[in-house]
Amino acid sequence: MAEKLNAKQRKFQTAILLWFAKHCRDLPWRRTCDPYKILVSEVMLQQTQVDRVIPKYEAFLHKFPTVKKLARAKCFSVIKLWSGLGYNNRAVRLHQAAQEIVRHYQGALPRSIEALERLPGIGSYTARAIQAFAFDQHVAAVDVNHARVVRRIFYGINMPSEKELDAVCVSLVPIREAYAWNHALMDFGALICKNRPRCDICPFRSTCAAYPDVLNVTRTKKRTTESFFGSNRYFRGSIVETLRNTPRYRIEYRMLWQKMNGQYPIILKRFRQLIHALESDHIVEITRIRSRSFVQLA
Ligand code: ADE
Repeated sequence: MAEKLNAKQRKFQTAILLWFAKHCRDLPWRRTCDPYKILVSEVMLQQTQVDRVIPKYEAFLHKFPTVKKLARAKCFSVIKLWSGLGYNNRAVRLHQAAQEIVRHYQGALPRSIEALERLPGIGSYTARAIQAFAFDQHVAAVDVNHARVVRRIFYGINMPSEKELDAVCVSLVPIREAYAWNHALMDFGALICKNRPRCDICPFRSTCAAYPDVLNVTRTKKRTTESFFGSNRYFRGSIVETLRNTPRYRIEYRMLWQKMNGQYPIILKRFRQLIHALESDHIVEITRIRSRSFVQLA
């Protein structure tokens, strides 16, 4: 049973929907309610910025317009198309999810949270986003933007427990408006109530519990390229990118190591560990041809 809202919460509900009616972002996955397309967008958006996702989303759906086409594809062709998005295990899991949807649900995405969360690569947030955006169900899809907005407005710079914040987010979803509501909070968090907030143009400034303290506590983390180069994520991405650009997506093990080592120093032992991790994630395969080892996209 949803909790009764107080006056501030009710005002916020109405005002956010009004704000959204004026300022909503026109994004390609918002022009469809095809559950498969929404699944693709949400998986891509899990760790990648909207601007980077848009062209990749279009290209992906051009090549794999239906869940059946994706399920039938070879894994390497899915990984190939994931170039530029990073975190390639999302591509592998999306491909596996498509195969399960075809095998267990005749190609139609299931509607329940439990069934959605059992699919590879779909966690609590993504399952709820699919419910809200594809099936128009009454749920709170709470991503980082959504959580930040509600936390600041109602708790200020204090940190409620995750459980408490989640309960407030759930109770705030307006009846029959879950679709717009969840998009509205995402957009408000992305455009106004950003990490470094735009309080100067925020319509909630006078009632926001975080204003003005939030202006002193938010600092944007400077992403240093130094910490990225040489990291496991850097090498995993480079290995997969090299394989994408290699004929037949396959290269001799030692030659791949030499290529990697030429770009950024890496000892053989660490390279081996990374290859085995990529193999466990079903991103690459190792094959042996006449006592020589080759690495290829799975
Ligand atoms: N991030 C995750 N899902 C999103 C969506 N549907 N629109 C914009 N950003 C998002």
